[in-house]
Order: sequence, then C-alpha cells, then structure tokens
Amino acid sequence: MSTAAAVRVAIPTRFGNFDAYAFEPASGNVYVALVAGEIGDGTDVVVRVHSECLTGDVLGSLRCDCGVQLQQSLRMLTALGRGVLVYATGHEGRGIGLINKLRAYVEQDLGADTVDANHLLGLPIDGRDYHDAADVLKALGIRSVRLVTNNPRKTEGLVDAGIVVQEVIPLPTSAHHRNAGYLATKSVRMGHERPTGAPLPELGPEPGDAVDVFGLIGPLRPRLERPAVVLKYAQTMDGRIATASGDARWISGEEERTVSHALRAASDAVMVGVGTVLADDPQLTVRMVAGASPTRVILDTTLRVPDDARVLDDDAPTVILTTKRSEPARRRALRARGVVVQTVAERDGRVDLHDALAHLRQLGVELLLVEGGAGVITSLLRTRVVDRLITSISPLVIGSGTSAVGQLDIGRIADGIRLANRTILPIGDDVLLAWDVVDQPPAS
Ligand SMILES: NC(=O)c1ccc[n+]([C@@H]2O[C@H](COP(=O)([O-])OP(=O)(O)OC[C@H]3O[C@@H](n4cnc5c(N)ncnc54)[C@H](OP(=O)(O)O)[C@@H]3O)[C@@H](O)[C@H]2O)c1
Repeated sequence: MSTAAAVRVAIPTRFGNFDAYAFEPASGNVYVALVAGEIGDGTDVVVRVHSECLTGDVLGSLRCDCGVQLQQSLRMLTALGRGVLVYATGHEGRGIGLINKLRAYVEQDLGADTVDANHLLGLPIDGRDYHDAADVLKALGIRSVRLVTNNPRKTEGLVDAGIVVQEVIPLPTSAHHRNAGYLATKSVRMGHERPTGAPLPELGPEPGDAVDVFGLIGPLRPRLERPAVVLKYAQTMDGRIATASGDARWISGEEERTVSHALRAASDAVMVGVGTVLADDPQLTVRMVAGASPTRVILDTTLRVPDDARVLDDDAPTVILTTKRSEPARRRALRARGVVVQTVAERDGRVDLHDALAHLRQLGVELLLVEGGAGVITSLLRTRVVDRLITSISPLVIGSGTSAVGQLDIGRIADGIRLANRTILPIGDDVLLAWDVVDQPPAS
C-alpha cells in the first residue's frame, strides 16, 4: 500500500477528539486510524485494531460485544490521552464478509455455535489478515504497541506483519444474555482471553471490571407469555431497602453495585416503579462495567414521571407502561421525546402486571431485571411472576424504614413463596444471595 494517508481530518466524537487518518491499501479495504493525542516517538502506543462489525458497531446488535468493545476502546484512548484505534474494514465477520456472517447467524439460530456455523458453511473460522493494519501503524510512525485485545490470533497476526507488541491489554466486557454463549465459545474454542470477565466470586470486583453474572442469574428461559423475571434489591441486615425518609443511597458497597451494573448489562430491560424514579431519580444505565445499557422500563399508572427524570435521557431507550387514566397529551409529549409509551390494562388501580409483562415480551424482552422499589417488588411476588430472586445484604442496621416486601397475605409458613437452588457470594463487605422462585399458584 502507499504509506501516506489519503486524507487526515479532525473528528470530534462523544468520546473525545481524534485525528482521523484514512488509508487506501491495495486490498481495496479502507482503513481509518483514529489518533488520540500525540504519537510522539512511536513507542509504547496503546493500540486497538478493531475489526469492522456493522451489526455490532453501528446497529447495536447484542449478538456480539463488538459495539461495546469499540466504545470502551475509544473511551480508554481519550482517558489515556494517547493511543490509536485502527478501524479495519474487510474484517467483517472475522473476514468472511457481512452476508456470510448473517448466514452464520442463521446456522447459530438452528443450534450451531459460532465455530461450527462457519464449518457448516464451508467458511474459515477466522480469515482476517493483519498486514494492512500493520502497514497503517507503520505509516503513522508507530514502533511498538500495547495491544488492546482478547484475541491471541490478532496479536500473532500483527507480530507476523512486523509489529512489536510490548504488552497485551485485555478488553473484557460484561456479557449480555444473548451473547454470553458466543463469548464463551470464543474463549473455549478460539482461545480468547476471558472475554466475559472473571466469574464471581473470584474477584473484587473493581469498578470497570467485567463481571460474569450468569452463575448468579442461573439458567433462565423466557416464557411465551412473558420474559424471564429476575428481581434484585439491596437490603440492610435488618431487611430494609430504604430509610423511613426514603433514602437508599447507598445501602450496598461499590463492589456490589458493580455486580448490579453487570446484571443490567446481561438483561434486555431493567424495570422500576415510578415511586423509585420519584425517590431516587436513577439513570438505570450501565456505567460501572463495560456493557450495553438495557431498555429502561417504568410502571407509571398516570404518568407521574417528571420531565427532568434522568431515566428519560437519551443514554438508553425507555419504555413507560401506563394506563388509559394517563393524560393523552402527556403521552404524546413523552413520545415526541422518543420515549415508548405503552397503554396497558389496569388492575386494582395500577398497571396490570400480566399485561405489562406480555407487552414487554412482544417488544422482544426475554430477560427482565427488576430493581424495585417496594411496591413493584411486592406486586410481582404477589402475582407470582418472579423466576429468580437476588438480594444483597449489607452490614448496616437502620431500624424502621421501607421493607423490601410488603403484604403478601400469607398466613401460614407452609404457604410462603418457596425458593430453591441457592447461590451465596460474598462481595466486598456485602453478601449476595440468589434463589430460583419455585413455581406455585398464588395463595387464594
Ligand atoms: N434498596 C433497593 O434496592 C431499592 C431499589 C429501588 C427502590 N428502593 C427504594 O424504594 C422506595 C420506593 O418504593 P416505591 O414502592 O415507592 O417504589 P416503586 O415500587 O418503584 O414504585 C411504586 C409505584 O409504581 C407504580 N405502579 C404502577 N403499577 C404498579 C404495580 N402493578 N405494582 C406496584 N406499583 C405499581 C405505582 O405508582 P402509580 O400508581 O402512580 O403508578 C406505585 O406507587 C424508595 O425509597 C427507594 O429508594 C430501594
């Protein structure tokens, strides 16, 4: 290829400012290098060679973690103040091209894993070539790199193409339930470094770590009529989820809250009642781990959600489940802001949970994480639509306050909601407990 960039231009992004250099190698694939800061003497440069993935990078597909890795890399480079991301076109689907990658997805939907799907189609598992990427790095004056990758073949490919790799920096992401299997296959069958992060409770974790929460969630399956429902809350040692004045920040420690963010990253949607929005003004996004933010869902019978609620910002999609009692003009105003407002049936003066969950299932939600508060926790347990219950217990006693679970009309211990398949994990100073909720009819 010609060693000179075809064009150089500044590209400000939401992750920071980059100098973009575009190259046109003889292979015909355009390469764009985004440079943060000064390359200087070209040694020790943090480099990510990112393989193009239209579905993950641009469309936000959750079949892979490419989009999360791309964003995480750009954030890392601007945070460090120096580094390069080489965007490698022609690497789509590990080199088999977009159409073949989509064909491989069809095979995966029929049961093959990502390796076998390529075999079935007579395609290579990894057909990527790193000579163009190496030429780009050399053209930029880079002499040695600290390579950001989980993929040992990428390191080998660049070394073979003449790049000095001084260090490999792993880039684990917190998996989504839809790509956890794919990431596990990459780890087991392709030697990728723990792409889903360390399983609990092997580590702290520290904020920014990826965390594998699938042991905590368990093997859940969505039903035809509703998503699989995971209920999660943080409580004090004396069973409170907030003080009498409604304060809940923070009951659990930073490590436990990191796990909560990984649980969000694993889920299609995270749901609270409007009471939690009014009390805590949560964002409900994924910030403490590298992962995709789920759709945020609010149960709000009459649309009491304030206009300036952070859950309405554009960091993630938001769905409000309301009833016919809400003002049509308010519904229109929220829709105009890009919020999905869905009118569902009403039961006992509130959003009907069966109808709400059925709508979420129709929207494609398979795994729903519920983060409270007390009203919603109690309603879901009363309605017997919880599949997995996860609670953290913190070394804190606060006396009277909000109980996690309110009135369930259970008069006899024998009629209590049964839990099974216990998981216990110490995390920081807290303890995480998780159980399956045993299927049983509501007490009459
Ligand atoms: N420690 C934790 O993990 C944690 C987590 C979350 C919240 N909290 C705490 O919990 C407290 C808030 O509790 P909360 O009970 O007010 O909050 P919530 O459960 O989030 O919201 C309850 C509200 O949701 C609406 N809703 C609509 N349909 C519902 C249904 N089917 N069932 C139940 N609620 C429905 C109702 O308001 P409308 O009738 O107006 O629709 C209801 O008042 C705060 O102090 C917060 O800090 C703690």
